[in-house]
Amino acid sequence: MNAFTYDYPVRNYFGEGAVDRALDVELDVMGETVLLAYGGGSVKRTGVYDHVVEKLRVAGKRIVDFGGIMSNPTYEKCQEGAALARAEQVDFILAVGGGSVFDCCKVVSAQACLDEDIEKYEHADGRMPTEFIPMACIVTLSGTGAEQNDGAVITNEETHVKGPFAGALPRWAALDPALTLTVPHMQFMSGAYDTLSHCMESYFGTPREANVTDDINLAIQRNVIRSMRAVAEDDQDLAARSELVYDSAMAENGVLKVGKVTDFQAHMIQHQYGAYTHTNHGMGLAVIHPALYRHLAPEAPAQFARWAREVWNVAEKDDLAAAMAGIDALAAFTAEMGLPTTFAELGGDASDETLRAVADTCVLTPGCAKQLSRDEVFQILTECR
Ligand code: NZQ
Ligand code: ZN
Repeated sequence: MNAFTYDYPVRNYFGEGAVDRALDVELDVMGETVLLAYGGGSVKRTGVYDHVVEKLRVAGKRIVDFGGIMSNPTYEKCQEGAALARAEQVDFILAVGGGSVFDCCKVVSAQACLDEDIEKYEHADGRMPTEFIPMACIVTLSGTGAEQNDGAVITNEETHVKGPFAGALPRWAALDPALTLTVPHMQFMSGAYDTLSHCMESYFGTPREANVTDDINLAIQRNVIRSMRAVAEDDQDLAARSELVYDSAMAENGVLKVGKVTDFQAHMIQHQYGAYTHTNHGMGLAVIHPALYRHLAPEAPAQFARWAREVWNVAEKDDLAAAMAGIDALAAFTAEMGLPTTFAELGGDASDETLRAVADTCVLTPGCAKQLSRDEVFQILTECR
């Protein structure tokens, strides 16, 4: 394993009543003015919004409303939130929703404390923000694990780049799996696949030899698969949803990355595909992973074979044969879960022009089993059609 320093400051409130348990402890230290951030309206339909507003009002908070955060949040929306937070002198940001709301708020938090444009600050000048409006997350949809870290993925619609930003690390997160029961089935499964993807992307980095971090990872992958099958059987299975909410957190709280250089090549391809096609993140990953892995497995057969044997119970003795059988099992599982297996099923544009643009602009990752050329990424994308 590589040398590491591990520090984990996000306080997690998990399980039944997590939102009230969190707020009862945290309200005192949230300041006077709270930016209440949310998405396109699900929180109002489910009653979570009213519940949180009531708690904030009783505690005497001034609420600044910041709704309408879209899936795959835009840079423009982050700027809108930052301007609002500054104008209203917000003390705390309470983000209620899924990855899109959290990511937007992480950047709002940092941009509100910066006089310069954060995109230039981070991407052109290579600097990292150091001041933030404190924030916390109430999770209504799991999968991204975005409530557990300070990374944000933001789409710049002008430049067609969906790229990473360093933003605020949430002070705390409330994860009540019952809040996810209203998430539409395929959206929830897409999130669960995203978690599986985070595990795989972390596992298939370096070192490639067996290690304790990867052993934990493989156990979580088995849990994700078992729990997804249970939710496929019974959409309202709260016990299985609870497992998946915690799997989602575990995949992104750093535990699976300790001592590793992770890969995340599938994510880099999906982010750019999403920037051009506005398609769903987890579903895009479901399409991309098997095609990508068929190109990577011959470069790291032992690592792929261990994964195939321990996660997919593959029996083949030969490593490369086992690796390929594992990838076939992953593809079959995707179809079994009703997730898309091709860009056509996903409903995304797969013209040569779009796929070429994605291949030419996606980040090529250092942890990848093979240094991919742009032409090979294009080839992989055409195999996803
Ligand atoms: O917008 P509303 O009306 O709230 O509806 C949302 C949205 O339409 C709905 N939803 C959420 N909770 C619900 C609910 N509907 C009913 N009941 C509930 N309880 O779900 C839809 C999708 O929400 P969204 O936040 O967009 O989904 P997700 O959590 O999958 O986030 C996706 C974004 O996160 C980024 C992705 O790239 C994408 O932009 N990611 C962020 C990561 C991070 N920061 O660590 C890691 C990931 O790899 C990912 O890249
Ligand atoms: Zn993801």
